[in-house]
Amino acid sequence: MEQSPEREGLFDTGGLRGSVSHTPYSEISQTRPSWTRVLVLAGVATTIGSSLPVGYNIGVVNSPAGVIKLFCNQSVLNHYGVVLHEGGLDFLWSTIVAIFLVGGTIGSLGGSFFADKAGRKGALIVSSLIGTIAGVCFFASKAANSFEMLIVGRLLIGVSSGLITSVMPMYLTELAPGLLRGSMGVLCPLGVTCGVLLGQVLSLEGILGNEDYWPHLLAFYLLPLASCSVILVFLPESPKYLFIIKKQPHLALKQLALIRNTKEELLDHEIQELKLEEQDNDTEGEDWSIIRVLGDKSLLLPLLLVCSLQAGQQFSGINAVFYYSVSIFQKAGLSLLNSQLATIAAGCCNLLMAIISIPVMAKFNRRSTLQLSLVTTTFFLIILGLAITFISHFSWMPYLSIVGVLGFVICYGIALGPIPYFIGSELFEVGPRPSAMALGSMANWGGNFIVGLCFQAMLMFLGAASFFIFALVVVALFFFVRFYLPETRGRDPVQIAALCKRGFSSRPLDSPVNSASTVDTFSVTEKEVV
Ligand SMILES: *[C@@H]1O[C@H](CO)[C@@H](O)[C@H](O)[C@H]1NC(C)=O
Repeated sequence: MEQSPEREGLFDTGGLRGSVSHTPYSEISQTRPSWTRVLVLAGVATTIGSSLPVGYNIGVVNSPAGVIKLFCNQSVLNHYGVVLHEGGLDFLWSTIVAIFLVGGTIGSLGGSFFADKAGRKGALIVSSLIGTIAGVCFFASKAANSFEMLIVGRLLIGVSSGLITSVMPMYLTELAPGLLRGSMGVLCPLGVTCGVLLGQVLSLEGILGNEDYWPHLLAFYLLPLASCSVILVFLPESPKYLFIIKKQPHLALKQLALIRNTKEELLDHEIQELKLEEQDNDTEGEDWSIIRVLGDKSLLLPLLLVCSLQAGQQFSGINAVFYYSVSIFQKAGLSLLNSQLATIAAGCCNLLMAIISIPVMAKFNRRSTLQLSLVTTTFFLIILGLAITFISHFSWMPYLSIVGVLGFVICYGIALGPIPYFIGSELFEVGPRPSAMALGSMANWGGNFIVGLCFQAMLMFLGAASFFIFALVVVALFFFVRFYLPETRGRDPVQIAALCKRGFSSRPLDSPVNSASTVDTFSVTEKEVV
């Protein structure tokens, strides 16, 4: 095949070469894509100190459920003189588990408020403070013999987590130079994945998941949180926020020079970019409240894209698969402990994929990786559904179901896991960005909540066919992405916003200007996927 320029579709910057729109700064972002020390420090500190605790609190509550329920039963009896029956205790436990997700939804909303009022970094510091209070509640609950403190702690850590998932991707992508945006964006999901795994490992009965140590288990995340929050205080604030929202250009440039590890004089390009974004933001007016973002027709399409990707990530059934995996592995003949270990192995695959996605996001286009991820995820969901349905019919079915679990986790990790978290910061301009990210984050937490609520019932009525429902959702998401998601890698958000502003009549896959090369780039890209 002829190596025409278009052939580079998958690797280039999304056809920017040919575009001569009103944005002379289109190529600027690509001039200095280097990992500076400050950038790496910001990435590491927020990953370990902010997003790892989010995942930790997702993963930690499964195994020790038994011992903590015993404690709750005692605590209720002592405080209220009420003897709980099976159903009552189950309900109390479900509340403790699920109120975390409710908190996450609330915290996501708060993200849009704090991100503009306290700054991106400021919002993360707020989340650390809330997370610390929650940790103290967990740790003290046993000594105080109070199940109420568990509920309060789970609500608070949920709020803190919601703040983090809506603000952290925004903060990191705003620090990053153009082509590293995606790589910085995936650090939030990377930390979450890491935390889930850590939570699963530590909550094994032999480690901390037992009667004596469960308060230590629940509060363990305070260690990474506290140590990294100290670093967080000294990290730079997002220059985009300082320049465009706070109108403090001098401070912004100082921070930018610090992040890029270069002199202010050498940042002409980026400064120009900031100024243009500022102009754009000024003409649009300030105060992008959530209500305004919801009501703005020109933002409808990108908002739907962000929310459906975020919710779709949960509706793909990732948590259901993890939940089910222990029993799948057991049916395949492993002992309970080995099944738990196998589940942890699946978690390791997940983590590995998240790590791989850092370089992948810098090299490959969003659209192609997402479509690849969605198609393969659907395939493995169907395999999984079939394998579990016929698990007792053929001796090799259990192995097929293990293949289904691992294949699903890996394909999910290519793009469906990492991309939804940060795609909002690439689709929206600085003004509406916090509100849009908050709504996306809410969709993610809400989706998680709904799946958690419905999965048991789905299993009861449909059995393993539940996985076909997840597959249907993923297929729908595939078509939405295929027809409406513009390529965002390496492009500036002003351009993207212009592509999507006519709702469903937008043709975001067409070139932003009359540049043929962009169109060709997309068509080539898609051929490689399907
Ligand atoms: C709760 O504790 C009481 C008293 O020890 C016991 O009778 C009851 O069965 C327990 N409830 C559950 C659901 O285990």
